[in-house]
Amino acid sequence: MVVAVRAEAGVGGINPSIRKEEEKVVDTVLAGELSKPLTPYCRCWRSGTFPLCDGSHVKHNKATGDNVGPLLVKK
Ligand code: FES
Repeated sequence: MVVAVRAEAGVGGINPSIRKEEEKVVDTVLAGELSKPLTPYCRCWRSGTFPLCDGSHVKHNKATGDNVGPLLVKK
């Protein structure tokens, strides 16, 4: 399988505002420590609770015609 990621033209990348002071945004999750059976993680880079999904992808998708959604991690 080939996965292609394309940055949005003219905005400096796909991450508009999250932890821009960091050279690279990396998070580690230990699945055994998840508190809920199903935890959604953001893949649209618009969440106010990043790295967790807060539903902001819905607004992004409506505004842009995109189709992004969260990564669901099961405990
Ligand atoms: S808020 Fe980013 S995937 Fe849901």
